[in-house]
Amino acid sequence: FCAACQASQCELSRFLALSYKGHSLSSVCPPQPTTKLFIDGKFVESKTTEWIDIHNPATNEVVGRVPKATASEMEAAVASCKKAFWNWSETSVLSRQQIFLRYQQLIKDNLKEISKLITFEQGKTLADAEGDVFRGLQVVEHACSVTSLILGETMPSITKDMDTYTYRLPLGVCAGIAPFNFPAMIPLWMFPMAMVCGNTFLMKPSERVPGALMFLAKLFQDAGAPDGTLNIIHGQHEAVNFICDHPDIRAISFVGSNQAGEYIYERGSRNGKRVQANMGAKNHGVVMPDANKENTLNQLVGAAFGAAGQRCMALSTAILVGEAQKWLPELVDRAKNLRVNAGDQPGADLGPLISPQAKERVCHLIEKGVKEGASLLLDGRNIKVKGYENGNFVGPTILANVKPNMTCYKEEIFGPVLVVLEADTLDDAIEMVNNNPYGNGTAIFTTNGATARKYSHLVDVGQVGVNVPIPVPLPMFSFTGSRASFRGDTNFYGKQGVQFYTQLKTIISQWKEEDATVTKPAVVMPTMGN
Ligand SMILES: *[C@@H]1O[C@H](CO)[C@@H](O)[C@H](O)[C@H]1NC(C)=O
Ligand SMILES: *[C@@H]1O[C@H](CO)[C@@H](O)[C@H](O)[C@H]1NC(C)=O
Ligand SMILES: *[C@@H]1O[C@H](CO)[C@@H](O)[C@H](O)[C@H]1NC(C)=O
Repeated sequence: FCAACQASQCELSRFLALSYKGHSLSSVCPPQPTTKLFIDGKFVESKTTEWIDIHNPATNEVVGRVPKATASEMEAAVASCKKAFWNWSETSVLSRQQIFLRYQQLIKDNLKEISKLITFEQGKTLADAEGDVFRGLQVVEHACSVTSLILGETMPSITKDMDTYTYRLPLGVCAGIAPFNFPAMIPLWMFPMAMVCGNTFLMKPSERVPGALMFLAKLFQDAGAPDGTLNIIHGQHEAVNFICDHPDIRAISFVGSNQAGEYIYERGSRNGKRVQANMGAKNHGVVMPDANKENTLNQLVGAAFGAAGQRCMALSTAILVGEAQKWLPELVDRAKNLRVNAGDQPGADLGPLISPQAKERVCHLIEKGVKEGASLLLDGRNIKVKGYENGNFVGPTILANVKPNMTCYKEEIFGPVLVVLEADTLDDAIEMVNNNPYGNGTAIFTTNGATARKYSHLVDVGQVGVNVPIPVPLPMFSFTGSRASFRGDTNFYGKQGVQFYTQLKTIISQWKEEDATVTKPAVVMPTMGN
């Protein structure tokens, strides 16, 4: 494995080389190191002339390259999915389940290695990267309950001798387009549920963080997934358009920005595909004066700044109601105490942003907030991290006195920036949240059950936490973001996920009683007329 890089500076390969079965993953990470395509069960080098650099966000060093797959490579990937579909869909559901049972164990066994790779390419802290893999693993575990999830319905004796029943059947080839912020979790939201239902799958990971998915694909193959059932291509706009347009692809799962999501939803739908798109968010945490102050402030700070705010479910907006407005100085103190460092450094609370462009955009939105009248209570723009001076770091930042017409409130910042608004009453807070276009998640902090109940009932957001800052449901439920945070009809994972990746076939059958096989030979002469 990677003899060349082990000898020199190929960190990426060093991470992978460390542990997996004690042998090398040369097929995943060659000396360059270039990221392979995964086509028809083989990790193959792209013949493209166009490559994209992968950077370590803590240093901005180039740590690898990812190809923009050529048209014929992308065609080969879909053709492989298509060819594998019939056998895979006819493979018994119990056999598919067995593969996923082995797969979940392999992911557990390699969780730490996958996490290192995530930190290396994405920047988040190791603890957070482990959470990334773990939340994806839970969906794989859930996929193992396919035998109950995929049951159809029956109704006997609709009329005499006639029964109706449904089968839940796979669609065919499905595709997934994943973002940079959860390199393991979001791909694992997609292909396991689709494939356990009998579909074959084409994945396109983010071109910035492909490593975790390549590792996961290798493990999936080792778990017994037949060649061609999962294929992986890389690229940017052309790969996205290819997926939206290809007539053999029946459904697309997408997670990412609103701009990309709306585009993919429209283009994919126009081509007759099912599309589910999870998009941007502006998640509000409403803080009531009767909340447990200690817990609430800790939760707010963790949820706003964890993962450097690059979570779709980051709690990026706080509404302090009434007397809770007095807690602002303490909130600032706690945010100040967070340690910013490279994700693999011990004690790091938040790592760098994904790219210099992302940092620039976040800094610009902070500056604009100040220009439009917000108070900058904590400014993380000029932070210096010792030993990582070239990293894309922004420290925790708090903008207070924010009003709903300010740009820093209207746009998803996707950085470690908490914007703080004020409201006189719970009703005012609810109105504010409901007037915001996004509906991914929200939280209320209170010790009053009636207040919590009223908020949960009246707020028009798909996922509500009561004293829970990031209400991402476990996979026996579904990820139910709503309004501008979601396009499509059926959500990710859980029962909704199974519905998304399956279609119903309804069978109405009549077996006339008089045609039933006579079990005893008729020795008596039939008599006419009775
Ligand atoms: C389907 O499965 C059969 C039996 O295992 C095998 O002979 C055949 O080659 C498979 N076809 C494809 C396209 O994989
Ligand atoms: C927001 O609204 C207030 C009051 O109407 C106005 O004074 C202010 O200029 C507006 N700010 C922006 C950024 O539009
Ligand atoms: C919603 O979640 C999705 C998936 O994580 C994410 O892409 C999007 O940005 C999020 N918005 C919210 C509110 O979570």
